[in-house]
Formats: sequence, C-alpha cells, structure tokens
Amino acid sequence: MSSKIETLFPSYIYRGTLSGAKSLNRDFEQEIRTLAEIDDHGVDWSHTSYHGGYSSYSSMDKLHRTSPNFAELEKRLAPHVRKFVRKLNWDLRGQSLEMTTCWANLMGPGTHHTMHTHPGSVLSGVYYVSVPPGSSPLKLEDPRLGLLMAAPPRRSKAPAREQNYLLLPPVAGGFVLFESWMRHEVPPHRGAKNRLSISFNYEW
Ligand code: NI
Repeated sequence: MSSKIETLFPSYIYRGTLSGAKSLNRDFEQEIRTLAEIDDHGVDWSHTSYHGGYSSYSSMDKLHRTSPNFAELEKRLAPHVRKFVRKLNWDLRGQSLEMTTCWANLMGPGTHHTMHTHPGSVLSGVYYVSVPPGSSPLKLEDPRLGLLMAAPPRRSKAPAREQNYLLLPPVAGGFVLFESWMRHEVPPHRGAKNRLSISFNYEW
C-alpha cells in the first residue's frame, strides 16, 4: 500500500527589492508629496474614497508615461515581470505584458484600502517608497476562501502560506507582484508618519 499527497493549483507571489532604491525613493517622496498638493481632482476623490490619505488612482493613473521617476520604476520592474511570467508558465503568444496603469498612494494615520481585485489586468503589484513604523501590511486572501463552506478553521500554528490570509510587511525599496485576481487589502495604517507606495497593473 502506498499513498501520496500532492500540491495542486499553487498561487505564486513574487517579492523583490530594487538596488539603488534609496535615491529613487527620495525622488519619489518629493514627487508624491507634490502630487498630493497640486492634484486637486485626486485630493477631492481621496476625501471620499481614501480617507486620511491621497491617491492619484482616479486622477493620474498613468504616471509611468508622464514622470521620469515612474518610468524608471517601470523599467526596473520589467525583468522581474518577465521572470514571473516564466514561473507562471504563461504563453503570451508572441505578445508581452504592458504596464497600463501606475499611481501613487499616500496613507495617513488610519487610511486603509478594503479587499479588492484588479479586474481587466493580469498582473498587479506594489512598490514601497516610505514605510514608517506602524505601516500596515499588504493582506492577501486565500483565493479559495469563498469555497471553503463548512471547512474547519486552520490551526493557528499552520504555516503562513496555508492560512486564510497572508500578511506581507512592506519594505522600502521592495515590491510585490501577484496575479490580478488575488484579493488583497491594506488594513488601517497605524503610523504617525505617512506610508507611501506606488501601485501598478499589467495587461496582456
Ligand atoms: Ni490593489
């Protein structure tokens, strides 16, 4: 008699850090703070949809096409995206992925972003510019959670990757890539200083 247990349908996330991020992040800090002062539409939108913070999501979501700093980020992420595509075994049929949106986020104390996906995109991600003490993590949800029905809860000692939620602490100069269907949120920011990040999507 023999038996074996196999792993099926794995969900991958890709984490990395960019070299030389310190000087890039200094430029980003200044640029994002400036955006938060001059982007009237974005500030208005944030008042109702991003309490206590500022996001250019509704107003300037193609910053990689208009700002040299954001274009530099796109360039530096490109080899990582290609590597992730290989890991995912995606056959792009001679095409490539394109960064279609890229926007800045400034979270003040208490700012949060509830569970969501990024429909229409295939890869999404975040890059961290400034993560003061108390910065909230990126929270990823088990994609099967809605199908678990009567399943018992997981043991608290189960490995992090086998829990229903995975918390990824942000690292300045670091980034995370994940498939766009993966539900995620950013719990309330608990720092006194602003948490700065850049979000982006890729389409095929
Ligand atoms: Ni998101």
